[in-house]
Amino acid sequence: MKNSNLSPVGIFDSGYGGLTVLREIIKELPDYDYLYLGDNARAPYGTRSFATIYDYTLEAVKYLFSQNCPLIILACNTASARALRNIQQKDLPHLAPDNRVLGIIRPTAEVIGHYTKTKKVGIMATPGTVASESYVLEIAHQFPQVEVYQQACPLWVPLVESGETDGRGAAYFVKEKIRELTAQSEEIDTVLLGCTHYPLLLPLIEKYTPKSVRILTQGDIVAKSLADYLQRHSEMKKRLTQTGTRRFLTTGDAAEFSERGEVFFGEKVKAKHVVIA
Ligand code: DGL
Repeated sequence: MKNSNLSPVGIFDSGYGGLTVLREIIKELPDYDYLYLGDNARAPYGTRSFATIYDYTLEAVKYLFSQNCPLIILACNTASARALRNIQQKDLPHLAPDNRVLGIIRPTAEVIGHYTKTKKVGIMATPGTVASESYVLEIAHQFPQVEVYQQACPLWVPLVESGETDGRGAAYFVKEKIRELTAQSEEIDTVLLGCTHYPLLLPLIEKYTPKSVRILTQGDIVAKSLADYLQRHSEMKKRLTQTGTRRFLTTGDAAEFSERGEVFFGEKVKAKHVVIA
């Protein structure tokens, strides 16, 4: 699998969700090589313990480093919330001090305050991301005047991973969680889908969210932030190859990933099965 001529950007998610981020990154930065890894065999992460999410994410990071990725984006809020800081501070210095692992919570928190007029935002995310309070802390740091209301949506990722995005079950659980979020404050005017799987539920989310509320997805935010990062870090930019390849790896079933991945990525996907642990 390793192609020693390539030095791609590694994109990691627990499953398919990161493909919604990768498709936006490719729109913004089409020339780079990308290597996507989905840990489908162990998804969802959002209901797992802190220690397990950290262990799994570290295994994925080590694997992507072994495949020549000098830069990895954790295109997963749960992994960014639960594992990123430890990996950056504890593991990177001895694993690969010149490599970089970036998350998607900070870039999102850096812009969210610009969208809200009422200064009240809602975050819909996995139980792991909500429990970490990462969004609350990061947004307080960037926009101290903004109040954050969080809503955990434990069933949304399993619904999306199993392809149940438009049935009656999905409609019920989407409606219910939006009701719980909006009941926390009627003044919320901006809702972030703080899980990279949730854009697949967007038609239902839009249906049940009051029209006055703006719904934000992360793909384009993360893409712009990565473009900006590479602009500011020419030493990393030089280490990345730009021959336009996209490769997809999954710890789950390759045929299933190839079939289902297209819905998330918006184009055909040809995946290979890998063992990372
Ligand atoms: N897509 C991941 C996120 O952004 C979560 C999926 C999961 O629970 O595995 O949080």
